[in-house]
Amino acid sequence: MLWDSYGWYSVRAWLWLLFDIITSRLVRLKPIQQRLLNDAVVVVTGANSGIGKETARLFVKSGAKVILACRNCKLGQQVKEEFCSKDKARENKIWVLPLDLTCQTSIRSFVEQFKSLQLPLDYLILNAGVLGVPLSYTKDNVELHFGVNHLGHFMLTLLLMENLIQTKHSRVVIVSSLTYLLGSLHLDDINYKKRRYRSFEAYATSKLCNLLFMRELCKRCKSEQLSVVAVHPGDVHTQVARHFGKWIYYLYEQLASIILRSPEQGALSVYAAAVDPYLSSFSGIFTMNVDQLVALAPNAIHDASSKCLWKKSLSLISFQSHEIEMLRSLRILYEDEYLQCLADCNREES
Ligand SMILES: NC(=O)c1ccc[n+]([C@@H]2O[C@H](COP(=O)([O-])OP(=O)(O)OC[C@H]3O[C@@H](n4cnc5c(N)ncnc54)[C@H](OP(=O)(O)O)[C@@H]3O)[C@@H](O)[C@H]2O)c1
Repeated sequence: MLWDSYGWYSVRAWLWLLFDIITSRLVRLKPIQQRLLNDAVVVVTGANSGIGKETARLFVKSGAKVILACRNCKLGQQVKEEFCSKDKARENKIWVLPLDLTCQTSIRSFVEQFKSLQLPLDYLILNAGVLGVPLSYTKDNVELHFGVNHLGHFMLTLLLMENLIQTKHSRVVIVSSLTYLLGSLHLDDINYKKRRYRSFEAYATSKLCNLLFMRELCKRCKSEQLSVVAVHPGDVHTQVARHFGKWIYYLYEQLASIILRSPEQGALSVYAAAVDPYLSSFSGIFTMNVDQLVALAPNAIHDASSKCLWKKSLSLISFQSHEIEMLRSLRILYEDEYLQCLADCNREES
């Protein structure tokens, strides 16, 4: 049988993903040296469950100040209470702030609340994510996987750029996934108006966007003390598959408890990507299994795609003029992008 090059590529990608799932629990993860991070400030998105919650716990145990960025603040408060149950002194070092990545107003309001705390920002952990959602859209009319997993985090990062750059040796950690191998960028049809919607493909593409965003951001921050990395946490038993149909979810639950990693194990790779002394010397890398560097496949190192994704993402966000000026002064926006954002902003205001 003849396979075209994409056929071979996707067979290899599926095999790698299956191998990763089957061996997820078998891989011996390097024990983490819990670092003392007194006074470091960390924002973790999606910190009320799964990998995000366990990553936040590791930072809390390290003595860091942790902002739990949660869509559901009630759940966030419960997590805070759990973290503080054995050590009441932690109460003054943990904040729960509302963040809904489907809504630009909510992202902006999160950033304003964070800025009002007047804290530096050492680690920004972009963890929140959705998987397998039926075709649906964010409040700003963008397909949900692209909107939450990529665009919401893109906007959040840009609005926090001032805080990140003003903090020495700050780091952005993007929780991506090996499924990026199956992603393909269709920037002319992100809302699936011209193609058949497949939720897993939409997820994989959003995880590819994570990596393309990392590379483009890295380029623009080269001269700064800010580093950006992406991580695959492994295949982890969490609630992430809850949007799949009843039967698939039932099967997932049966198998997951046997073969997948626990959220605590998944969080180790995320925490290490932020603080491991060996990994800290790199920027623009993709890691897994705590301290393993993974080479990226061609779809994630395509410079033209990173640039197009960046421009498309900018065009989907309603920036305010002071935000555009801030991004220009930090040299995060190129001159043509600055002028375009300003023109879009003026058009919306008039
Ligand atoms: N589990 C795995 O095997 C695996 C593998 C590779 C990568 N990942 C990645 O790991 C990350 C964490 O996933 P998980 O497995 O820990 O799943 P999870 O338990 O479902 O956690 C996802 C988190 O994202 C939050 N979230 C979803 N939509 C949001 C929105 N619109 N605004 C703000 N927060 C939102 C969820 O909040 P709610 O509770 O309010 O929904 C939840 O806290 C995701 O990016 C996922 O793609 C997971």
